[in-house]
Amino acid sequence: VVVSAEKHRGAGGESKGKGFVEEMRFVAMKLHTREQAAEGEMEAKAPEEQRVEKWEPTLDGYLKFLVNAKLVYDTLEEIIEEAAFASYGEFRKSGLERSEKLARDLEWFREKGYGVGGPSAPGVTYAHYLKQLSDKDPQAFICHFYNVYFANSAGGRIISKKVTREILDNKELEYYKYDADLSQLLQTMRDKLNKVAENWSRDDKNRCLEETQKSFQFYRNILRLILS
Ligand code: HEM
Repeated sequence: VVVSAEKHRGAGGESKGKGFVEEMRFVAMKLHTREQAAEGEMEAKAPEEQRVEKWEPTLDGYLKFLVNAKLVYDTLEEIIEEAAFASYGEFRKSGLERSEKLARDLEWFREKGYGVGGPSAPGVTYAHYLKQLSDKDPQAFICHFYNVYFANSAGGRIISKKVTREILDNKELEYYKYDADLSQLLQTMRDKLNKVAENWSRDDKNRCLEETQKSFQFYRNILRLILS
C-alpha cells in the first residue's frame, strides 16, 4: 500500500469541519496491519506486526522496550518544553506526557532487583532523528508527536493487557495510566493540533502526512524489542 498525501487528497479526510487530525489519522490507520487494527491495510510480516494476542513477550525484552520508549518520550517532552518553534509551546502540559510515569515504572523494577539497562539503537536513533527534525521542520516533527502519543493510547492499551497478564504478574504500570480522563485529554490535543495546522499551507500538510511512514518504522523498531 502506497500511502501518500497525494493519494489521500479528496479521500474524505479534508471534508468540512473535520480538521487536519482526521487526515493524520487516516494515513496512520492504513499503515497498521490488518492484524493490528480493523482499519489497517498492511500485511503482517514481522512478528511484531501480528496480532498482539499471538505475541510471545519476554520480561527482558519488555524492559528494553520501556527504557527505549522513555528516551523517545524524554526527547519529545524536552523539545516541547524548549519550543524552538512557538507552535510547540501549545502542546505543553497536555497530560499525555509519559516521561515521569516511565521513570516511576523503571524505578519500581530496579527496586525489585530487575536489571534495567540503558537505551539501545532503536531508541537512540529515533531520539536523534526527532531532535534534528524538530529544529528544522515543525510540520514533519508534529507528525511524529501525534503518532507517538496517540499510538500509546490505542495500541498501547492492547499491549498493556497482554504484558500485564502474561509477564508482569498483573502489576499495572504507570506508563498506561493518565491523571485525567484519557479520551478528554486526547480530544483537547486533537483540538490543539487542528488549531496549529490551520496556519499550514497544503505543502506543509503534505510534508507532515508523508512523515507518518517514518514514524511507524522508528516506533516499530522499538516495539519489536518486546519480543526480543
Ligand atoms: C489507532 C492498534 C502500532 C499510531 C489504533 C487503533 C488500534 C491500534 C486498534 C484504533 C483505535 C480506535 O480508534 O479504535 C495498534 C497495534 C499496534 C499499533 C496493535 C502495534 C502492536 C502503532 C504505531 C503507530 C500507531 C507503530 C505509530 C507510531 C496510531 C494512531 C492511531 C492508532 C495515530 C489513531 C488514534 C486515534 O485516532 O485516537 N492503533 N497500533 N499505532 N494507532 Fe496504532
